[in-house]
Amino acid sequence: MTTTRRLSPLDRLIVDAQNALDTVAGSPRAARPNPGDAEAEVVLDEAERRHAAGLMRINHVGEVCAQALYVGQAAVARDEGTRAQLLAAAQEETDHLAWCADRLRELDSRPSLLNPVWYAGSYAIGVLAGLRGDGWNLGFVVETERQVEAHLEEHLQTLPAADGRSRAILRVMKDDEVRHAEHAREAGAKILPPPVPTVMALASKVMKTVAYRL
Ligand SMILES: [Fe+2]
Ligand SMILES: [Fe+2]
Repeated sequence: MTTTRRLSPLDRLIVDAQNALDTVAGSPRAARPNPGDAEAEVVLDEAERRHAAGLMRINHVGEVCAQALYVGQAAVARDEGTRAQLLAAAQEETDHLAWCADRLRELDSRPSLLNPVWYAGSYAIGVLAGLRGDGWNLGFVVETERQVEAHLEEHLQTLPAADGRSRAILRVMKDDEVRHAEHAREAGAKILPPPVPTVMALASKVMKTVAYRL
């Protein structure tokens, strides 16, 4: 009798469902220390606190979407190497997710109430992208990371000047996202044709507008 370590489609579905629950409802644990811990907590005024919380909620949703996208793509990836790379990227996003959740708590706020919706939508997009083939899968990773990097840069500019803790988290996240994009490019990412990047940017704009408040 031979044994195989490959997961059956049902096993994979169960693993993905567990990941979805952990991401949306659980408190995922970071493997690395929170970069914000090295910065002093400064008391922000109410307007600053609300603005910082809105931005960190957007970043938290971005990480929920990244998890879902990568797990969805990995579910249908044809090549084991691509699958392993997607799941490794999802693992680093777990650190980002946990750090953003920590900071939201420190800011007396909460993650987006629509996280299950963001997760489900991104998972579906991930599966669709993955079904097009592995070059596309990786092309999606590059484009997602590029867009996340752009909004992290924007948030670094617009966070309250005193919020060093949020800023320290976003700086490390930005470095990680740049590296994720580079790895995907090296692994053979295809350049996504128009209008895919524009549609992705539009979807992300909707997400950012809603998640800032909700
Ligand atoms: Fe991330
Ligand atoms: Fe990333």
